[in-house]
Amino acid sequence: MKADELRRSFISYFERQGHEHRPSGPLVPADDPTLMFTNAGMVQFKGIFTGETERPSPPRAVTSQKCLRVSGKHNDLEEVGRTARHHTFFEMLGNFSFGDYFKRDAIAFAWEWVTGDLGLEPDRLWATVHHDDDDAFDLWLELTSIPESRIRRLGDADNFWQMGDTGPCGPCSELHYDLRTDRDDRITDAQFEAAGEADAIIEFWNLVFMQFDRAPDGTDTPLPAPSIDTGAGLERIAALLQGVGTNYHTDLFLPIIEAAEDGLGLPYSRAPEDWEDGVAFRVLADHARAVAFLLADGVFPSNEKRGYVLRRILRRGVRHYWLLGRRDPLLHDLVGVVADRMSGTFPELEARREHLLSTTRAEEELFLSTIEGGMREIDRAMPERGSGTAAGTAAGTVEGSVAFKLKDTYGIPEDLTGLIARERGYDVDWEGFNEALEVQRTRSRSHRAEPLDAVATLPAGLPGSISATASLGPRPQEFVGYGDLEIETDCRRWARDGRHAFLLERNPFYLESGGQVSDTGRVVGDGWAVDISAVWGADGRTVVAGSLAEGSLAEVDGVVEDYVCAQVDPSRRETERNHTATHLLHAALRNRLGEHVQQAGSLVAPDRLRFDFSHRGPLTPDERADIEAEVTEAILGNRDVDASERDYDEALAAGALALFGEKYGDIVRVIEVPGFSLELCGGTHVRTTGQIGTFRIVSETGVAAGIRRIEAVTGQGAYRRELERDRLLAELGARLRCPPADLVARMDRLLEERDALAEEVRGRRGDAAERQLETLLARAGVTGATGAGDVADAGNANSARFVSGRLEVPAGTDLGALGDRLRGGMGSGAAVVHVVFPDEDRHAFISVVSDDLIRLGVKAGDLVRASSRATGSGGGGGARFAQGGVGDPAQTEDGLGAARAWASERVPTLSGG
Ligand code: ALA
Repeated sequence: MKADELRRSFISYFERQGHEHRPSGPLVPADDPTLMFTNAGMVQFKGIFTGETERPSPPRAVTSQKCLRVSGKHNDLEEVGRTARHHTFFEMLGNFSFGDYFKRDAIAFAWEWVTGDLGLEPDRLWATVHHDDDDAFDLWLELTSIPESRIRRLGDADNFWQMGDTGPCGPCSELHYDLRTDRDDRITDAQFEAAGEADAIIEFWNLVFMQFDRAPDGTDTPLPAPSIDTGAGLERIAALLQGVGTNYHTDLFLPIIEAAEDGLGLPYSRAPEDWEDGVAFRVLADHARAVAFLLADGVFPSNEKRGYVLRRILRRGVRHYWLLGRRDPLLHDLVGVVADRMSGTFPELEARREHLLSTTRAEEELFLSTIEGGMREIDRAMPERGSGTAAGTAAGTVEGSVAFKLKDTYGIPEDLTGLIARERGYDVDWEGFNEALEVQRTRSRSHRAEPLDAVATLPAGLPGSISATASLGPRPQEFVGYGDLEIETDCRRWARDGRHAFLLERNPFYLESGGQVSDTGRVVGDGWAVDISAVWGADGRTVVAGSLAEGSLAEVDGVVEDYVCAQVDPSRRETERNHTATHLLHAALRNRLGEHVQQAGSLVAPDRLRFDFSHRGPLTPDERADIEAEVTEAILGNRDVDASERDYDEALAAGALALFGEKYGDIVRVIEVPGFSLELCGGTHVRTTGQIGTFRIVSETGVAAGIRRIEAVTGQGAYRRELERDRLLAELGARLRCPPADLVARMDRLLEERDALAEEVRGRRGDAAERQLETLLARAGVTGATGAGDVADAGNANSARFVSGRLEVPAGTDLGALGDRLRGGMGSGAAVVHVVFPDEDRHAFISVVSDDLIRLGVKAGDLVRASSRATGSGGGGGARFAQGGVGDPAQTEDGLGAARAWASERVPTLSGG
């Protein structure tokens, strides 16, 4: 029988017995602070049992209840995946009588459904009763075919059920199924219990005879009327009916396990001898269900309470696949399988499908990056052993302080450290770990230990730094800055080195938090005013300080009481526009890009905002434009911005965004732009979105792998930016002599003209260079010369000349070719020329020497080197041609002179220059 059929069979049997089929209550119990999660079918009926809520009509109900047993009295987390039938999330089939029928009918119904509708073999059924409960014992004998030998009396531990430390409770009676092949009823109670432990005799249905309400002090008060609460594990019964040895091999889990096989690329074996190898698969299948249902019921991963439980379960799943080598998110796929298979019964899974998948995925990605970040430390603490090491020998012990550091600094939870240690063959000094943890706890406790007489030390880094300490005293403080920017208030003040500090009883100054920067302003007293430039927190209160701006105020010794007017600089509260805009931006990003977008940091200043968020890759121009347009639309819609205080869990259940890694109290402040944005936030905000005025994205950049940053301006900041742009355009228009609208066309025309001119200049330069070269050659007196290197003139050094000068050449002129022309036209001589490329502001020396002079020891390379050196540069080349740099162009004359001098030394008769 498939699980779906089984569920239907139970419900329809009890409907036939006059029970009303009620939907499952949520996993997060409504209005029950004593319970973190719904852990039994009776939770939603608790008030009816105790008489707080009116008895329904009919006074009978049947449900298949979503349950989670991961905290408090019923916590099965550590057993999950290791045993055949422990789960975090499971379904409990239950029938309830609210002061209607009692033990007799409850037992008769159970027997009829189990042996009739399900067809379980009566001979295999056992019953247990509370050792004091003769009624139940007799009823099993009377109403069923179970013999005395298979009815056992057990103590409170097994047969007294209570919801939690408080609440409804009563003796109970359980039905068991005997799977043994050679069955024997004549076993002792101890053997019976052992068979249960060994999964040979399976307990599958608990009938609770609800009779008392337990108070916190342990006293039991009788309920208004004896009632019935039963709970049968759907997964267990499915396993019995499907003839599989474990719940995990029923049709409830196998499809998830198969998806895990696909994702891991590893096979799962159902053979009993492979049980140990399959732990990770079963953990994943179990945790995928828990994650899916928790998210569907509005729990959001966080570091507090329920969100933390969800986070732990999710991360446990990640650890298991990570250790099997998977490095990419996988759990979200399995969550998808859960939604596929179970939304017929639980439509909330389908309704929030996108949310389930994207939240799981984002959380997986975050944790995977945490693990990767800590891996180096792990490798250092537990290097992997060489393959030669014998299995089973401990490779060493990881010190407790190291395990603590992995947790505290790198975010690697202790159970992951434990798992990796086990994998790599290390022991961990858990005692040392716990000690380190305790030290930290004590330290943070002692920080809180003196709330009534804390000392405020003015931070040394304050502008105009002062250091002063003062007892803050037991005075409470109220933050009034959400509504008031200017108030009168009692205060304590003290001073040092011309700086005055205040503890204001009613304080309007915002203290930097949640990205929003602190306020500035003034504190005004009788005949004096102090400009406030620093705000900081001390002992949970806000202290402000600054220097005297008006009047005179004596530096008193110690602390004095005073009455002052405190004024926040309203222009500083431009932060409010930017803060609300940040929320709008966050919402628009999630709308446009997807719910994987999570805030990763922010700055809310008076003149701009900066928002970091998780997202892969840059935004496309379209995305960026859409996001800006969506925020703009929300601004122009002039929506309300509502601030309220709510219960933390309720706020999250309503879908409020909380900051990853942030700690929140039980009561949180929620900022809501109805229908658009809902966030936990302690900051100050505008009253309606229209006050933001304008929102412009200034830039979008990457700051780290997978983290993008948007900078934007609003209100005055956007207005100033607009003015600045106008001014720039006006100035451009004035310079280019056209109205701003024509700037582009004007610019295009100018660029065209410039190109044409440049072309013309290049041509003219070429011509000019040609003329200069001729002049140079003429000066070299070559007219009529017999030709460079003419052997006939070789010894005739008397006619040789030294030529130097300057040539301006167009860009791209080949210096070698220029040298050839010079040398070809020069006759007997040596030349050093300063070549200038005016277009590129570039200078060079070139030198050529005729062969006859080369024979006398004059080489072009030496000449250039002499010139270049004189200008602070270098150069060189062959005897005939060489080129070199010009260090300081102002010294080119010196360079040329140096070459001349060098040549004259070797050929004193050299003429020219
Ligand atoms: N409330 C009972 C149980 O959870 C039926 O076992």
